[in-house]
Amino acid sequence: MVDLHILPATSEMLPEIVALEEACFSAPWTRKMLEAELTGNPFAHFLVAWRQDRSGEGAESTIVGYHCFWIVFEELRLMNLAVRGSMRRQGVGKALVIEACRLGAEQAASRAILEVRESNHAARSLYTHMGFIQVGKRSQYYTNPTEDAFLMEMNPLVLPGRRQPESVCRPGGASQLPDLL
Ligand SMILES: CC(C)(COP(=O)(O)OP(=O)(O)OC[C@H]1O[C@@H](n2cnc3c(N)ncnc32)[C@H](O)[C@@H]1OP(=O)(O)O)[C@@H](O)C(=O)NCCC(=O)NCCS
Repeated sequence: MVDLHILPATSEMLPEIVALEEACFSAPWTRKMLEAELTGNPFAHFLVAWRQDRSGEGAESTIVGYHCFWIVFEELRLMNLAVRGSMRRQGVGKALVIEACRLGAEQAASRAILEVRESNHAARSLYTHMGFIQVGKRSQYYTNPTEDAFLMEMNPLVLPGRRQPESVCRPGGASQLPDLL
């Protein structure tokens, strides 16, 4: 049986997060940058999607996704999101963003923003699917390769409707998230 848990990241998870970051991005954050978000930024929150396979002998666990976001007063800022290639299109990215929105709303954030590469159709589609709209463009914002960023916003912040894998569990608990809409 395979369970998926959304949990706060810890320093021990850093090597796996760095490996996933390097596998997913052409201009990855360095270990130092990720560590700074994880341990040194009071606005930053860091979640992992943790897959536990209990079908064989013993239990095997791996990090299949992570999401770093900031909650700065009224603003939820989605910073970095990645899902392991073999686990995509199974609702993991959406589950991570929903949890970010839930935590943001809980801490009185009233809008959410993010930047995304113009060519990143998967991510743009995910954010659009969740209720973000494009509100601007930042010219040549990204490097390697140089590319514009689309600025996307959800204003007001609402908890997006969701369809998640059967076994997604919230931080600290084994129960499934209630449907939010
Ligand atoms: C973008 C990313 C995080 C999406 O994660 P994911 O777990 O595959 O996304 P989900 O399964 O939760 O997708 C939810 C919805 O988003 C949209 N979506 C996600 N990936 C898509 C794709 N490749 N093409 C079209 N739509 C897509 C769909 O509407 C999907 O719903 P559906 O599967 O019911 O059609 C993942 O592709 C990834 O890690 N990419 C590399 C890193 C990256 O680009 N990060 C984002 C930086 S801004």
